Amino acid sequence: MSALQNDTLLRALRCEPTDYTPVWLMRQAGRYLPEYNETRRRAGSFLKLCSDPELATEVTLQPLTRFPLDAAIMFSDILTVPDAMGLGLYFADGEGPRFERPLVDEAAIAALKAPDPERLRYVFDAVAAIKRALAGRVPLLGFAGSPFTLACYMVEGAGSADFASVRRMLYSRPDLLHRVLTVNAEAVAAYLELQIANGADAVMIFDTWGGLLAADAFTEFSLAYVEAVISRLRGSAGSTTPVIVYTRGAAASLERIARCGCDAVGIDWTTNIGAARQRVGARVSVQGNLDPAALLATPAAVEAQARAILDAAGPAPGHVFNLGHGILPTTPPDNVAALVACVHAESRAHRARRQAKPAEP
Ligand code: CP3
Repeated sequence: MSALQNDTLLRALRCEPTDYTPVWLMRQAGRYLPEYNETRRRAGSFLKLCSDPELATEVTLQPLTRFPLDAAIMFSDILTVPDAMGLGLYFADGEGPRFERPLVDEAAIAALKAPDPERLRYVFDAVAAIKRALAGRVPLLGFAGSPFTLACYMVEGAGSADFASVRRMLYSRPDLLHRVLTVNAEAVAAYLELQIANGADAVMIFDTWGGLLAADAFTEFSLAYVEAVISRLRGSAGSTTPVIVYTRGAAASLERIARCGCDAVGIDWTTNIGAARQRVGARVSVQGNLDPAALLATPAAVEAQARAILDAAGPAPGHVFNLGHGILPTTPPDNVAALVACVHAESRAHRARRQAKPAEP
């Protein structure tokens, strides 16, 4: 394994001291970059970009060429896993993801199986190709959807504001939902293990829709399965690989998420990051949490918000700067440049000021 030239992210995830606060952005490779749109046009579709390791490598590296980010994230999607289970993923223009064969009845759920890993070979090949192209510049993040967030799309068959079908199933047929989640947890664990075996330096579990659930239902139907995935990783190739768990809308459950076996808790922008730090304790790191809409304002406004987050996060090690959710397609790239420069410069200056201060009596 080649040594990393910049391992700041990995050290921050382990709550070790760093020279500055590392920064990367959810959806950092995406439609706000003209070069992404150009490659996507050449590829013909988003799914073609994901399934061709050479094109996936090209778009993964695009944001790193522009900005001195501290991590790369493999270019793919969370819905590759249910696609490999035979649900038939497609993207209708401007409508987001859809499945040809969603889990509409008991028979479909009874037939559901974790996929043959060979059907996801293109993802593992992309991880290996990206890792080679990075040549140790920065760590490579792998990722998967949480078992519950995947179930939302698999049962609904498409995106939704409230995922009422899966929530109705939770109350009317909890046994069926538990079966889907058990299969998903097995599939996600195997998927992350193979990303790690092919070169991912850390992995992130996206629980984008866990925040839709009542607090106790969240523990039973989402967090318990995230915990199962992590405990399986701990006994495999991923035994020491850092795991980040991001749950959108989980302000009510931060303490419990911090105890699920993860190394870092990703938070959305609705919680103050200093308050989150207090609540999760010192053993896990926190990742976040600029409102993606702040990046639509002026560079000066972006910098003011970045400083406020660095101040709130405080001097303890264990902060990874990120957005509170994915970057918006209308984001001006110059604002991203201003954000990354500001996080690096301000966090270095913070540390220098602390060192210059005489020790307290
Ligand atoms: O962060 C990165 O740069 C890595 C790539 C990445 C994508 N999707 C690329 C993508 C990651 C980590 C994801 C995760 C993902 N995908 C999640 C969880 C995180 C989140 O955003 O909440 C979810 C729920 C999905 C499912 C999905 N994929 C949706 C709902 C959509 C459509 C919404 C949209 O933004 O258009 C996608 C498509 C998608 N995935 C795009 C990208 C760059 C846009 C596709 C395009 O080029 O048209």
